[in-house]
Amino acid sequence: MARADLLKSLFEAYQQRDDPGFRCAASKIVREERKKHHPVLANELERILSNGARSRDVSRQASPSFDPVPVDSDRKTPLLCVRRPDRYFSDLVLSRQTLDVLARVMLEVRGWDVLDAHGLSPTRRLLFCGPSGCGKTTSAGAVAAELGLPMLYVRFDSVVVSSLLGETAANLRKVFDYANRGQWVVFFDEFDAIGRSRDDATEHGEIKRVVNTFLQLLDGFEGRSLVIAATNFEQALDPAIWRRFDDVLRFELPDSTGLEALLKKRLRPLHATTLQIAALMDVISGSSFAEAERVCFDARKRCALSGATQLGEEDIAAALARFQYRQDVLLRARPTGAAPSIDRE
Ligand SMILES: Nc1ncnc2c1ncn2[C@@H]1O[C@H](COP(=O)(O)OP(=O)(O)O)[C@@H](O)[C@H]1O
Ligand SMILES: [Mg+2]
Repeated sequence: MARADLLKSLFEAYQQRDDPGFRCAASKIVREERKKHHPVLANELERILSNGARSRDVSRQASPSFDPVPVDSDRKTPLLCVRRPDRYFSDLVLSRQTLDVLARVMLEVRGWDVLDAHGLSPTRRLLFCGPSGCGKTTSAGAVAAELGLPMLYVRFDSVVVSSLLGETAANLRKVFDYANRGQWVVFFDEFDAIGRSRDDATEHGEIKRVVNTFLQLLDGFEGRSLVIAATNFEQALDPAIWRRFDDVLRFELPDSTGLEALLKKRLRPLHATTLQIAALMDVISGSSFAEAERVCFDARKRCALSGATQLGEEDIAAALARFQYRQDVLLRARPTGAAPSIDRE
């Protein structure tokens, strides 16, 4: 909390439309917060003050308050986007262990200056792995939201230009250069895009060089940002990659307790009963969080469109029928008959 006298001068300056006075008081508050070792808040306030933009104005793409995002020189496609995630840990179902690790990482990021002063380096690189639809992307967003930092969202396959190492390396460099200009959660999604084609002998050497370039840039990255990479396909990652990350977190398929917690969370607005939850659990057990969430949203949409405020049996039946239809389609689409996994979209 800022000092009372500073807050008073801020309000007085606003009341008297005294812009220089307002800026002076605001800058003092920023300095105060920095002194109190709240660098994230101080940076955020400073950014708002200098850009005149409210953080909520930042949409999914870069807003005018950020530099234009870098683009691939050939295709002219953006290499990243700036996001302001608005989902928090309370919106997710995460294991105690995952929450503990993330809480510690955030404590270290918030205390960056203090650690720095002691010659210590905070945790800066995380690797999220595990099956699709279990919360890797959403959790990275939640870390950004909880820290009050914007997220630089980088899809690996939009950066990697196949068979053109020079271009790919240039793209990666542009991403890191951009990241260096601010404090963010830098999120490399679909990191396994690299791994997927590793079996292809002709691509093998090329991909190895892309990975090496990425690792070199990651090693040399001094920015005050938290870097998170996510992969569904960790078997494909080289041990050299694992070593580069301070922590590796696995996001597993939910057990029945996790799935039930998700159903309760998502169906809370419709006052789902214990029996209704049990009926859903019977059918969807073994699914990912994303699949379960979709069933909830299907049921909620049906209620919303019929004007109901309470979940009915038909809503559940319809949502489950849709779920089963999707499962069947996916099963048929897999020649091996392997267990379906939705959300590889
Ligand atoms: N652990 C979780 N708790 C609550 N919702 C989840 C969880 N994991 C995934 N979801 C939901 O599923 C959807 C897809 O999740 P996402 O984070 O994109 O998964 P991943 O990146 O692991 O493929 C999101 O809309 C999210 O709300
Ligand atoms: Mg994802």
